[in-house]
Amino acid sequence: MSKTAVSQTPEPRWKQTGWILLPLRAFLAVTMIYAGLLKFSDPNFFSVTSPNGITSQMRHSVAGSPVGFIVQHGIEHANLLGLMIAAGEVIVGLGLLFGIFTRLAALGGLALSTSFFLTVSWGTHPYFFGPDIVFMFAFTPLIIGGDGGLLSLEALIRRRVRSRMRLANPAPSHESSAIRAEVNRRTVVQSGVVAAGIGAIGLIVAGVTKAGAGTPGSGAGTAVAAPSASGAGAAGSRIVATSKVPVGSVYAFNDAATAAPAFIVHPATDTYLAYSSICTHAGCACGYDSQHDTFVCPCHGSIFNGKTGDVMQGPATTPLAKIPITVSNGYILRA
Ligand code: FES
Repeated sequence: MSKTAVSQTPEPRWKQTGWILLPLRAFLAVTMIYAGLLKFSDPNFFSVTSPNGITSQMRHSVAGSPVGFIVQHGIEHANLLGLMIAAGEVIVGLGLLFGIFTRLAALGGLALSTSFFLTVSWGTHPYFFGPDIVFMFAFTPLIIGGDGGLLSLEALIRRRVRSRMRLANPAPSHESSAIRAEVNRRTVVQSGVVAAGIGAIGLIVAGVTKAGAGTPGSGAGTAVAAPSASGAGAAGSRIVATSKVPVGSVYAFNDAATAAPAFIVHPATDTYLAYSSICTHAGCACGYDSQHDTFVCPCHGSIFNGKTGDVMQGPATTPLAKIPITVSNGYILRA
């Protein structure tokens, strides 16, 4: 009986895992690094009183999130958590970019996206308007497939380890499990050292970015008046002295009655109005754009009139919620 030789055509390059996942990996790497550095460079993100800060976002998440009870406990450490999130994003991005512990980096990205989905994006309706659920699923192919050894520092280190051990590259199928385990051990240790170095450089860059970020409220899209940390909540409780809110200014405060960030606007003498800064589309905290006198939602771009709270641009369709206030004896009070 004659045997027929079966010739195996090698898989074309573009069909290999590394190439298929490369566009997704590149996008997620750049986006995560950008998102992390953006947080480090935004002083409002670390401001306890800014409506756009991590503290306000966490306060707002408590009510609507299925993990609100956990978020509640984290509020007093909000800035530390904010730092960890920003640093985590940079580290995940660098891992994906350099192809080092790629699966682990993707797992970290999934964990971050899931936490955003359960807090910031939880109220988004319909769910596909929220970006975090898309990121959650975008990380899964990289968890499953890794970088496929393409543009991968870890693959490079593995090849060097094998060369130093005088082993064939790539590993032959008959190689013993003991040798494979030793190669893996050396690769993980050496990759760990390289990853620590890259991570340290990334965090130094992030630290320099944060140091040069300036003070809260200095950028566009922020409240013009110094925001108050006071938690006026009960009817009749003081929010702020009228002298602190001159005509034409906007004052940011946290409304303890709703545990949400809010604004007082003073468009004309004797006219004070207060609005929740929570976007009526999906619940993100709006910032105030002093240049255009508008409230701007950072999540999906809704814009509200800075004097009336009316929608100027969707996707939101409902004006910002009005907060009842009165003025008495030189103070603005919660009504
Ligand atoms: S939350 Fe979607 S536009 Fe504000």
